Amino acid sequence: MQSVAYVIDKPGRLSKPITRAAAGRRAGEVLLRIHATSVNYKDYLGVVTGELPDLTWPRVPFADASAEVVEVGDGVANVSIGDRVIPSFFPKWQAGDPTADGLSLIHGDQVDGMLQTHVCVSSACLVPTPAHLSDVEAATLGCAGVTAWRACSKASVKPGHTVVIQGTGGVSLFALGFAKMAGATVVLTSSSDAKLERGRALGADHTINYGRIPEWSTAVSDITDGRGADAIIDVGGGHTLAQSVRSARIGGHIACVGFVSGRESAEFPNVVVMAKNITMVGSTVGSIDDTADMCRAIDVHKFRPSVDRVFPFGEAQEAVDHLLTQGHFGKVSITM
Ligand SMILES: NC(=O)c1ccc[n+]([C@@H]2O[C@H](COP(=O)([O-])OP(=O)(O)OC[C@H]3O[C@@H](n4cnc5c(N)ncnc54)[C@H](OP(=O)(O)O)[C@@H]3O)[C@@H](O)[C@H]2O)c1
Repeated sequence: MQSVAYVIDKPGRLSKPITRAAAGRRAGEVLLRIHATSVNYKDYLGVVTGELPDLTWPRVPFADASAEVVEVGDGVANVSIGDRVIPSFFPKWQAGDPTADGLSLIHGDQVDGMLQTHVCVSSACLVPTPAHLSDVEAATLGCAGVTAWRACSKASVKPGHTVVIQGTGGVSLFALGFAKMAGATVVLTSSSDAKLERGRALGADHTINYGRIPEWSTAVSDITDGRGADAIIDVGGGHTLAQSVRSARIGGHIACVGFVSGRESAEFPNVVVMAKNITMVGSTVGSIDDTADMCRAIDVHKFRPSVDRVFPFGEAQEAVDHLLTQGHFGKVSITM
């Protein structure tokens, strides 16, 4: 079987895909025909800057895919030819808390990823695609969707809670969807009034423009009558963590999932964390069971991910460039 694949030898801009033999299928593996992928910030760090840890070369990048099973290897019982599936981000992390082994062998980082038409993967990492989703929509779930799903769980999002969600990128709009499914009140922040308006149409109850109100924890305090938010999904990192801490109620939770605003925080208010008894938890995507749980919830609620723009396979670099403009609302996808 041939695969048309982007193969990179070192960090830099993507050039053009090449046609080569797909890797051989072994026992316990399946051959997938990939129909779509989506761009994640980590793909930029992996492909263009090479900043991710433990990258090995040459490599087919990207972790996300929606795919169809076209061949099954010996011993495969959980999927059949023709099934629509999503490969889990961490193919070795089945459930529970992560281990070093569970966080290894990420598609696109240490083993070949999804920016190609065909790939062999372990059948154990596959999760059924929610039937109502298109391939483009399903290809957004594996990284951003699962990250938001687990972050909401780690931040103990519950009915009646007030949850602050930062920004309107891929992770954030999934978090908005999952927090509304859970019966929470959502405070959405963005640098753009137009994006906040779109966020309200998706269910955000309150909105704050963090560009106009840099000390946005005061606005959260007003919205919550001085109590503070029960949970904050922090995607900003360096320049948002201080505001997240000041936004939280006594006993509140902060899920730390991103660093779009910076990697380190000079003004981190550690005394406030202590005084408010805040729980801060880091979270990296999620397990195979998290992915399956999320897909079931998406199926029950007939939830549809927000896709900002779809690029053809030959324009993968343009898709990465589009993500970096931060002009997008939701996910940036690629079809093949
Ligand atoms: N922990 C994990 O496993 C995991 C998994 C996936 C992603 N991530 C990380 O999570 C972050 C978001 O990923 P993504 O895929 O959602 O990225 P994305 O689609 O590129 O979205 C980024 C969004 O962040 C918002 N933003 C930027 N600076 C901000 C600030 N100072 N305050 C609040 N919001 C700000 C912007 O929203 P507006 O345009 O509305 O202002 C922007 O659109 C990245 O750092 C990524 O590396 C982590």
